[in-house]
Amino acid sequence: MHTRSTALVLAVAAWASPGAARAADTRPGAQLARFATEAGRPGQADAGRAFFTRTHGGKWSCASCHREVPTQPGQHAVSGKTLEPLAPAANTRAFTEQARVDKWFRRNCKDVVGRECSAGEKADVLAYLVGLTR
Ligand code: HEC
Repeated sequence: MHTRSTALVLAVAAWASPGAARAADTRPGAQLARFATEAGRPGQADAGRAFFTRTHGGKWSCASCHREVPTQPGQHAVSGKTLEPLAPAANTRAFTEQARVDKWFRRNCKDVVGRECSAGEKADVLAYLVGLTR
């Protein structure tokens, strides 16, 4: 009973303050492991880099907004808005909220690749990003 009411209080607190700190319910390594498990193979950093920096039949690559070197802040290709670096080494908040990871992979892959990315492609991109150092 105690646990349940605590969880409820936390849920209400989170709901009541939308601008507050993110949920931080996961780690980049855990996301890499999740996609690798789903794909049935480890992520390949080299393949991830190639996937990230090339276009896929459209005009954008992932790097169009997240930069060729994603340890740097990105810049949105349309709005010009500055984006936090995607590489965990340069951004402690990167890949720390699973729902956010899924939301942006879905949205960005549709924009860039024209479909959702496969688990293997996501494992490759994660292996690349997690392996980058500042
Ligand atoms: C048109 C611009 C644009 C392109 C192109 C783009 N992204 Fe993004 N991406 C964003 C924005 C905006 C965010 C959210 C950033 C923020 O809120 O700080 C984001 C966030 C993400 C996140 C969430 C990271 C996290 O911390 O959870 C992932 C994963 C991601 N992008 C992957 C990709 C991949 C993979 C590609 C290429 C297939 C790609 N993006 C291409 C704009 C873009």
